[in-house]
Amino acid sequence: MEATRVRITVNGVEHVRLVPSTMTLLEFLREDLQLTGAKEGCGKGECGACTVLLDGEPVASCLVLAAQCSGRSVTTVEGLAPPEEGRLHHVQQAFIDHGAVQCGFCTPGMVMSAVALLEQNPLPTRDEIRVAISGNLCRCTGYQSIVEAIYDASRRSAKAERAEKAEQLSGEPR
Ligand code: FES
Ligand code: FES
Repeated sequence: MEATRVRITVNGVEHVRLVPSTMTLLEFLREDLQLTGAKEGCGKGECGACTVLLDGEPVASCLVLAAQCSGRSVTTVEGLAPPEEGRLHHVQQAFIDHGAVQCGFCTPGMVMSAVALLEQNPLPTRDEIRVAISGNLCRCTGYQSIVEAIYDASRRSAKAERAEKAEQLSGEPR
């Protein structure tokens, strides 16, 4: 089988590997790197369970070849809140707080789509959130709790940012 040498940065760590030319990014992450956060649902770009960020943009990793990612940077759900930080990413925490996780199969993909949205649009409306997660299917929650979790995460992070700016301006610790 034809193989390609790739150099892919995943969650800040560079990996150099020889991969089959037909290997998807999802397979590379799950089988080669043992990063099993991204899930394989449909395997054809329809469910969003495999969503990761490729150079900051959300992609269905089942549709991208690992060979296409050489020289590029991938972020998976495992990279959002490294264990050494001892706390979850605020989007993950909001999902828990709003009961937006049931079976959890869609959750890593949902969270990655939400993180990408908030990078581009820190204060989205609920409708904008619905559009951003329209490629991520959830068969458990009915979506409302997910939309509320993302909405709340965006407002919490804006509030934290304002508090940080105020602290910097006052020069006093909170
Ligand atoms: S597994 Fe990739 S979109 Fe469904
Ligand atoms: S929580 Fe089960 S598919 Fe979304």
